[in-house]
Amino acid sequence: MTVIELVQGDITRQSVDAVVNAANSSLLGGGGVDGAIHRRGGPEILDACRDLRASHYGKGLRTGQAVATTAGRLDARWVIHTVGPVWSATEDRSGLLASCYEQSLRVAAELGARTVAFPAISTGIYGWPLDDGARIAVRTVRESAGAAIDVVRFVLFDETAYGAFAAQAG
Ligand code: AR6
Repeated sequence: MTVIELVQGDITRQSVDAVVNAANSSLLGGGGVDGAIHRRGGPEILDACRDLRASHYGKGLRTGQAVATTAGRLDARWVIHTVGPVWSATEDRSGLLASCYEQSLRVAAELGARTVAFPAISTGIYGWPLDDGARIAVRTVRESAGAAIDVVRFVLFDETAYGAFAAQAG
């Protein structure tokens, strides 16, 4: 059974097998978690992302999909990049957000990663309401983390995000 952990902190400082990055479809970096991972992980991650773009993702990684690279200088062994949906008040994109968690866990299991850290995907620059983002995250991980994953750790940047996840995780 997969254990779900919640911690308040910085995802770039986690000792886990795989860290999930809330990336964008370019895979070439950005702000928020993405910027922090590339800064701390170093240029090896960006080089690997560029190679992936050239070899497999000429048009970029689609929303809801996930792909892994080296984690460079991070403690983790892999970074799993996923592209969350931008929040829309008029269109229900929650399936795409759930897909980010599902696909990241699928990639993690394929790699043999047993411990995986997730940020609260889409709840920053992409504007997803935190409570709803937390609900989708916790529900999807409960439903889709298979026996291959021992621990899923949600790493929440501040107290508000931690509280939102704690309310869902019970
Ligand atoms: N550790 C853990 N959580 C963090 C950290 C960190 N170091 N930094 C921010 N957060 P965001 P998104 C929280 O904006 O909404 C980038 O430019 C943050 O408080 O990183 O999916 C990409 O390139 C929030 O709760 O990701 C994309 O263009 C959560 O992580 C775009 O932002 C996610 O915030 C993706 O936007």
